[in-house]
Amino acid sequence: MSIYIDPEVAVSLRGYEVPERLGFGTAMAPVMFRAVCQDGCWSQGELIPYAPLTIDPAAKVLHYAQSCFEGMKAYRTAAGSIALFRPEKNAARMAYSAKRLCMPSVPESLFLDGVRTIAAYCANLVPGNRGESLYLRPFLIGTQADLTVSASTSYEFYVIASPSEAYHTGNMRLWVEREDARAAVGGTGDAKVGGNYAGSLLSVGRLKERGYDQSLWLNPADRSRVDELSGMNFFAVIEGKLHTPALSGSILEGITRNSLLKLARELGYDLVEGAIHIDTLLSQIASGVCTEAFACGTAAIISPISVIGDEAHSHELYQAPGPVAKALREALLDIQEGRAEDNFGWMQPV
Ligand code: COI
Repeated sequence: MSIYIDPEVAVSLRGYEVPERLGFGTAMAPVMFRAVCQDGCWSQGELIPYAPLTIDPAAKVLHYAQSCFEGMKAYRTAAGSIALFRPEKNAARMAYSAKRLCMPSVPESLFLDGVRTIAAYCANLVPGNRGESLYLRPFLIGTQADLTVSASTSYEFYVIASPSEAYHTGNMRLWVEREDARAAVGGTGDAKVGGNYAGSLLSVGRLKERGYDQSLWLNPADRSRVDELSGMNFFAVIEGKLHTPALSGSILEGITRNSLLKLARELGYDLVEGAIHIDTLLSQIASGVCTEAFACGTAAIISPISVIGDEAHSHELYQAPGPVAKALREALLDIQEGRAEDNFGWMQPV
């Protein structure tokens, strides 16, 4: 289906300048992509000026959290062109999240049209410094005005964009969250739904008071295995091997996680996808057996971890950033920013 381009889009884009200090997700591109779904039928996609949404106060999303989203990026390559990284993986994960919340999935072609169109029209807004990009945020909400607890009959799909730097610059201090759980057994932890992030915020408030940056969540079934951070996956180098928690049903399968596993294999690292018990990990850090740890995600890329602590301990990692985090970050960014051969066929020109 063709995409409708609102004539006001050109006007909105003309006066827009990328701010000098980017930060993450604060400056919004002046346009957005939208499509609506009524009783299972999707409308034509349209690119329109960025504006507040008009939403009924009784809309299901506002009460029952029928809302899922994606995080992805448009990169400026060394040659100056614009490219997306594995966008079909985001389309598939959004379909999975939507299904989990009883929402219609956005057809892959519509999803890809949305992210390609906004990236193409915002090509001049894609920053070119190392680690910077145009962050894209596709999201889907249930809009039917009706307070019964049932799936909405109407939905809106949007893609907004934000010229951004990495989510977290510098090293991170992780707080082991032993009180709350991010996800439940059989819950929505492996879907990218808004409620997972709302549920993590109380922990963030507590850890900031203690001088930490991010929560390290434990598996809800046993509260002893490491799952992930609130918006990033976890890796640690233990006895020279690269470990990451195996997907447990309560971990979001990060596209960066998946890509790093492939890259790490290509670079010759020994990989272990399995259980990481938090108490073992803490003693491995204290004894120097665990030499480095890092978090990864689309927004974060790779963020080195300098400290992991809880009420009883605070252990400093031997190296932050360590050599494995540095090598993987460079290798990933080199592909994304078009400085290295894309042997995996991950990049898609816009
Ligand atoms: C992303 O990495 O794109 C995410 O959606 C995580 C979010 C906390 C920024």
